Amino acid sequence: MTAAATDAHVGSKGTQKVAPGPILLLGAPGVGKGTQAKELMAKWGIPQISTGDLLRYHRDHATPLGQQAKETMAAGKLVPDELVTRMVAERLKQPDTAAGYILDGFPRTLNQAEWLDRHLAADAKTLPVIAVSIQVGYTQLLRRITGRRSCPVCGTIYNICLQPPRVDEKCDLDGTPLVRRSDDTEEVFQERMRAYETQTAPVVEHYRARGRFEEVNGDQPVEKVAVDVMTAVARLRG
Ligand code: AP5
Repeated sequence: MTAAATDAHVGSKGTQKVAPGPILLLGAPGVGKGTQAKELMAKWGIPQISTGDLLRYHRDHATPLGQQAKETMAAGKLVPDELVTRMVAERLKQPDTAAGYILDGFPRTLNQAEWLDRHLAADAKTLPVIAVSIQVGYTQLLRRITGRRSCPVCGTIYNICLQPPRVDEKCDLDGTPLVRRSDDTEEVFQERMRAYETQTAPVVEHYRARGRFEEVNGDQPVEKVAVDVMTAVARLRG
């Protein structure tokens, strides 16, 4: 299916024709879940719900949840399911999720996936969940993670090697100095990959086995990955 055909099926920006419902973006650290979630948000006007961003908000504001999660995140390990599912349940109560939402970085364990299945089954109006898994090889992931920078004001994501800003270390949109995540070191990345392989890879298999699942090659330019993700979503909602 072409990009134009995808637009006709799921609606282009501002002319949404079909409610996209809940969309899961799955994949290892650095595959581009956050980058692609922002493309989908702009397209459909549905929110990105990133459990990583929510946890960083709690950590940076020293909430009780943030204080419990802080050390685990710094070590590149997964925060306990109970904390994360409670946080997601609160977020899903917000009215902006009515037409759909993009879950970025959740579920990350089979327990979280089963919790989400139960949570969605309790709401008869919700469309079935669809899952898109993005694939990128290890060496490229390491370059992406260690080169990542983001704007602390507008959230735009850059990469000093692969997607540099126009002016060194400054956001193209608002000129704010870019920041680097404290867990974006090679050492913590290796731990995050271990957590992905042992705890999150079974989640990918959970959704593959249930259908409504597609894989996309994430080792292509951002715009091409976005077309492939949207085409996959259109097919899965077809
Ligand atoms: P989280 O923030 O979710 O981190 P992650 O899954 O490791 O994913 P990333 O945000 O690192 O990568 P991404 O796939 O979004 O890539 P991005 O688009 O930024 O989680 C952080 C921590 O929070 C976890 O370690 C854990 O402790 C905790 N946590 C979070 N959720 C949890 C949960 N559900 N349960 C338990 N604990 C949880 O892109 C990366 C880089 O690549 C950027 O520089 C970007 O510019 C570049 N890039 C992207 N696409 C392309 C492309 N096509 N070509 C070239 N460069 C590209």
